[in-house]
Amino acid sequence: MTICSAPGKVFLFGEHAVVYGKRAIACAIDLRTEVEVNRGGNGIHIHSAFKDDPDKNPYIKMAIKKVQQYVDIKNLSVKVSSTIPIASGLGSSAAVTVATIGALNEEFQVGLRKEEIALMAYQTELEVQGAASPTDTFVSTMGGTVIVPDRKVLPPISCGIVVGHTGISKSTARMVARVRALKEKYPDVIGGIMDSIGCISVRGEDLIKKNDYRSIGELMNVNQGLLDALGITIPELSLQIHAARQHGAYGAKVTGAGGGGCMVAICDEKKCKEIATAIGRSYGDSFITRSTSEGLIIK
Ligand code: PMV
Repeated sequence: MTICSAPGKVFLFGEHAVVYGKRAIACAIDLRTEVEVNRGGNGIHIHSAFKDDPDKNPYIKMAIKKVQQYVDIKNLSVKVSSTIPIASGLGSSAAVTVATIGALNEEFQVGLRKEEIALMAYQTELEVQGAASPTDTFVSTMGGTVIVPDRKVLPPISCGIVVGHTGISKSTARMVARVRALKEKYPDVIGGIMDSIGCISVRGEDLIKKNDYRSIGELMNVNQGLLDALGITIPELSLQIHAARQHGAYGAKVTGAGGGGCMVAICDEKKCKEIATAIGRSYGDSFITRSTSEGLIIK
């Protein structure tokens, strides 16, 4: 029997632009998905905590199929539990994929290195979703603060992080398709926005190394303006973002595909509670989290 766990994430910068090869920066957060695999039984059985989300099982099934390219897996039971809200931009699909591959790798002694697990998890997401960037799977495998497509890993950020959850479910594939259609219609205009988002992530790396959270927040706000221009923000997310800023966040923006899901604010640790309360009063729920260096782990 093997148990592995993998974290969710927030995007500091770069969602959507990363789909076009621009740079993005994401942080692993301390919400996790745990996968237990047991050999034996009769056939392959998945007991998922995502019962209300039939969309999750394809990730587990595809992950098993990928590992089956290396070892024969006939009889297996997979149990999943998770604290990451689903379909909300916090990387729940990546975490379950990474933890499943990690657990199978260990249980069947496949010998994949972490980079290979991240790549296999990315290919799994690609096959299930049709489109994906390597951000979620890479950060969930490595932990810390990651830069893609460069695949650099920096230490976790050490300021307060507050997440606002609208509870409005969104589809990454649909939002990516909407942005793509806008880009095809106005390639010159939208191309420029993607370039600007990429520039923000380039500036972001240095600011993260210097722990300059005020400037990081400022650029998160600029990034949010550009995401707004792409049409991925909904009024409920805007309410949460403005509430966080009014209560002293260094910066606040959507995290992930938008169209629902979550926003993220960074702030002084001492301000987390006040900002979480303000977000919750504006719309939906909120929670305080922290950045973690712990990526995929065997328990
Ligand atoms: O909402 P999420 O966590 O699925 O993030 C989507 C981020 C996009 O850049 C829009 C797509 C991607 O795969 O990077």
